[in-house]
Amino acid sequence: MKLTSVALTGAALGLAHATPVTKRQAISDADILNYALTLEHLEANFYAEGLKNYTHQDFISAGYMDPFYANLQTIASDEQTHVQFLTSALTAAGANPVAACNYSFTSTDVKSFLALGSVLEGVGVSAYLGAAASIMNGTYLTAAASILTVEARHSAYLRSYLGESPVPQPFDDPLNFDEVYTVASPFIASCPSSNGKLPVKAFPSLTPTSSGSVMSGAKVQLMTGSGFNSSMDMSDIFAAFITVTGPVFTPLMSSGGGMFTVTVPSGVAGQSYVVLTMGNTTVTDDTIVAGPAILEVGAMMGGITGGCSKSKTWSMSGSSSMSMMMPTASPSMSMSMSGSSTMPSGSMSSSSMMPSKSPVFNSASGISPSGAISVLMAAVAAFFM
Ligand SMILES: *[C@@H]1O[C@H](CO)[C@@H](O)[C@H](O)[C@H]1NC(C)=O
Ligand SMILES: *[C@@H]1O[C@H](CO)[C@@H](O)[C@H](O)[C@H]1NC(C)=O
Ligand SMILES: *[C@@H]1O[C@H](CO)[C@@H](O)[C@H](O)[C@H]1NC(C)=O
Ligand SMILES: *[C@@H]1O[C@H](CO)[C@@H](O)[C@H](O)[C@H]1NC(C)=O
Ligand SMILES: *[C@@H]1O[C@H](CO)[C@@H](O)[C@H](O)[C@H]1NC(C)=O
Repeated sequence: MKLTSVALTGAALGLAHATPVTKRQAISDADILNYALTLEHLEANFYAEGLKNYTHQDFISAGYMDPFYANLQTIASDEQTHVQFLTSALTAAGANPVAACNYSFTSTDVKSFLALGSVLEGVGVSAYLGAAASIMNGTYLTAAASILTVEARHSAYLRSYLGESPVPQPFDDPLNFDEVYTVASPFIASCPSSNGKLPVKAFPSLTPTSSGSVMSGAKVQLMTGSGFNSSMDMSDIFAAFITVTGPVFTPLMSSGGGMFTVTVPSGVAGQSYVVLTMGNTTVTDDTIVAGPAILEVGAMMGGITGGCSKSKTWSMSGSSSMSMMMPTASPSMSMSMSGSSTMPSGSMSSSSMMPSKSPVFNSASGISPSGAISVLMAAVAAFFM
């Protein structure tokens, strides 16, 4: 397939230029586990809130037939179990696990709830993937990887039901800490003051103004959010899609007022991330000036919901066999795993967790709560077209 060969060629050439996730002052494993825990709290609260808002019957009425609801409950339970596991692991290591925050999620119906869930799962996959290279301890790397694969399965499942390809490309896109924080923080309204500060910051937001999934070659208008320096020389600003093989630079036109038009390159598919950077040679935290924006790239598939089942292209073969995924919530597993983990306390001291005065997870970080919604809503809107 064309995309595959593009990606593999890129792999040969591009790994040396891959978005560095390690080029920052040392981030400890405790920081990374707390960063992961921050995202898991967010996901767990998102599903808990949504499952309170919408009943089993609401899902059926919206065309999500059984066993979809049971599988969604499993997904929610997985996130809660991840929270318990990471909390236990941090506690066992002598670190201070972050507690849940207050969040601001918006959904208006079952479908918009699932669309946002799918975006959050995709961000979770990209976050674990991007963090992997920075995890020092192999035990934690394996634990994080075992969470990552499950988040990827959640993502594929929801994407299928939203009519998107469950496996849009052969490689997932890694996001680094600040990139993830940029897209996650708008959902975090306020956190307990006892939460440790994490060494992460948000870039100015970047939001697609159009809705709908887009194809390679399409032009997409992007709007920068507060904090973007519109006095910069726009001829030095480029757009880059983030991929595992390195940034894919693509034409960018400034239309003034912090608005830009970007051309979606070939070689990206599925939930994709585009940043604006100074220069077109490298993408680092020092060169990013806005974003990531989230774009869904690729043709919409039929979807597996009631009304659309005729056009389903990606067979989930035997939805009846999905009942094997029924929940067997097992907090005991998380306990026993964390019980056996004892980290060297030196590398996990709580003082090593607060090295930065950057915007932090325990505040709204200067991002207006209303910007909260806008950052991802355009991406979410993409799912309805
Ligand atoms: C749940 O419902 C409340 C009240 O209508 C709404 O404000 C919120 O956005 C909903 N959250 C989710 C995740 O659906
Ligand atoms: C969450 O919001 C409630 C109600 O506004 C408030 O009482 C509480 O202190 C908040 N909690 C955090 C952790 O910010
Ligand atoms: C914005 O960009 C201009 C031009 O590069 C620069 O002189 C100025 O210091 C920047 N402002 C901020 C707040 O970074
Ligand atoms: C990078 O930008 C320079 C001009 O600043 C241009 O000549 C060059 O073709 C660009 N390279 C890519 C890969 O876009
Ligand atoms: C990694 O963490 C585990 C669990 O805390 C611990 O038993 C092990 O000694 C650590 N390994 C290294 C190399 O620090």
